[in-house]
Amino acid sequence: MTQSHKPLLRVLAGETLATPPVWLMRQAGRYLPEYREVRAKQSDFIAFCLNPEAATEVTLQPIRRYGFDASIVFADILLIPHAMGQKVWFEKGEGPRLTQMELAKLAALSPDGAAERLDPVCETLRRLSKALPGDCTLIGFAGAPWTVATYMIEGAGSKDRWKARTAAWSEPGLMDQLLANLADATADYLIAQAKAGAEVLKIFESWAEGLPAPLFERVVIRPTRRIVETVKAAGITAPIIGFPKGAGPHYVRYAAETGIDAIATDHGLDTDWAVTNLPRGMPVQGQLDPAVLKAGGEALRSETQRLLDAWGGRPYVFNLGHGINPDVPPEHVDALLAYIRGS
Ligand code: CP3
Repeated sequence: MTQSHKPLLRVLAGETLATPPVWLMRQAGRYLPEYREVRAKQSDFIAFCLNPEAATEVTLQPIRRYGFDASIVFADILLIPHAMGQKVWFEKGEGPRLTQMELAKLAALSPDGAAERLDPVCETLRRLSKALPGDCTLIGFAGAPWTVATYMIEGAGSKDRWKARTAAWSEPGLMDQLLANLADATADYLIAQAKAGAEVLKIFESWAEGLPAPLFERVVIRPTRRIVETVKAAGITAPIIGFPKGAGPHYVRYAAETGIDAIATDHGLDTDWAVTNLPRGMPVQGQLDPAVLKAGGEALRSETQRLLDAWGGRPYVFNLGHGINPDVPPEHVDALLAYIRGS
């Protein structure tokens, strides 16, 4: 890989910077008035994600306003089930809904052609590569197979993924088939994103929480490793960030066994434990509690400082431990950036 001057790429290549690069999960979103204005004109969320003009615009909004070190393409992890043939829609104020289908039917959905059907996201990436400022790194992403499968099986977000966890134990053959198909579609999609200009790839395992070790190995580690191996075998050198949200002590195995290059930490993970137990040389991203960003004031200052101190001796990317909430005042993000950048 050629050496880059971009702060995020330098850190992901193993460098420790005095001022860490910073970006925020869901930095394009409803807390921004300019996002809500574009959103109001888009009746269908999936169509919005697949509209390169609108998606490019909202991706750029937080870059213009704050000058983040990275830009994550505006899209959604549920585009993969959509592209594989399960209907996905968003109920206002309630979140995602997917057509109810039996596990056997879900496991029979083919990964072939899914990445091609998501070419509009790649078109957004091509436009962003040309439009972004020189120091800003472009990030592509996808959901991890288990997290996406939980939505496919439950038909919505759910409190404890009961149906998906039960299915993983009672119908392991069908579940493993679904996860393998999702891994293949996701690998193709990430390869296409890298070819379209994504310089970093991130895999969101938002529901890594609450899994006993044998299940964590089967539904999280194995399918994630399948994606990472396929992407790297295709000659893609973009570093891959893994985010196993809520994995607790399983973070260690996830970091060691999936083949990812950098690890994103959530705010529930004990910082001191993570500093000691995550692999020394592996770049780490995270882990400010999004509620601290909402609270602002002294809590925001001291928590930001705590994380800068704890992670300061190693390759570190400042971020939240999960996405920004819609009720966060935009000026709290200015305050956060001032603390980090010392300006
Ligand atoms: O700025 C960015 O971070 C890039 C865009 C992005 C979105 N979703 C846009 C979005 C990213 C990286 C995602 C990932 C995503 N989507 C995840 C993984 C991260 C996480 O939050 O755990 C998950 C689980 C989803 C599925 C999803 N999409 C849900 C559960 C929801 C509804 C949540 C809500 O707050 O209503 C979405 C919708 C969604 N995706 C929005 C945005 C900006 C809000 C929808 C809107 O504007 O109406």
